[in-house]
Amino acid sequence: MNNPIIEDLNWRYTTKKYDPSRKVSQADLDVLLEALRLSASSINSQPWKFIVLESNAAKARMKKTFANKFQFNEPHILESSHIILFAHNPRYTREDYAEVVDNGIEDQRTTPENRDKAFGAYVFAEMNTDENGFNGNWTKAQTYIALGNALHTLARLRIDSTTMEGMDAELVGKEFEKELGGYECHLALAIGYRHPAEDFNAKLPKSRRRLSSVVVRV
Ligand SMILES: Cc1cc2nc3c(=O)[nH]c(=O)nc-3n(C[C@H](O)[C@H](O)[C@H](O)COP(=O)(O)O)c2cc1C
Repeated sequence: MNNPIIEDLNWRYTTKKYDPSRKVSQADLDVLLEALRLSASSINSQPWKFIVLESNAAKARMKKTFANKFQFNEPHILESSHIILFAHNPRYTREDYAEVVDNGIEDQRTTPENRDKAFGAYVFAEMNTDENGFNGNWTKAQTYIALGNALHTLARLRIDSTTMEGMDAELVGKEFEKELGGYECHLALAIGYRHPAEDFNAKLPKSRRRLSSVVVRV
């Protein structure tokens, strides 16, 4: 299929070995972070935080969190250019939503008189909140929308990436407690440039379920 979107999606793949000498430019990083910020989410809740590990010290802290499991992902931490932690708020509240509503007023999407009415959408959060105030399944799902957006943005920028659910959420929670500020992280993304010779995955053809198996047209 001859289409630039499909070309992007065929170009991208999960990188298994990075070229440690290549760094993502500040300009490209800025595009990625803006794309993350612009991601869609249920009721525009944006219950996320994207923690960018760029310094050697931050990456060394992340490396330590592979002490117990998922060691297959560990080499990416120092060899890739940046790591982005996708964190979600497991207890998203009406007060958290107030920031969204007030941004809407500032951005002239909502009038100040309609402020109370704008909280009506919060019923979707309530539907996904248990009796203990936990709504982490719902907020975590939103971070995957940002992930999808990031993967395509990176492909467009011809930047390689590795999605890593293979990360120790408990150790990351401890190591980055201050930065997380009560949020949880179960998903990380390495970005950078593939090793020109040593990434077996770069040479493999893409494989997916067939269109007829995944699409039902009625
Ligand atoms: C949510 C999610 C979690 C993933 N976790 C890992 C991981 O921990 N380590 C890894 O090497 N690949 C991981 N992957 C990569 C997938 O295995 C990969 O996207 C899939 O096999 C399709 O291949 P492609 O990305 O090369 O097109 C993950 C992908 C997604 C979307």
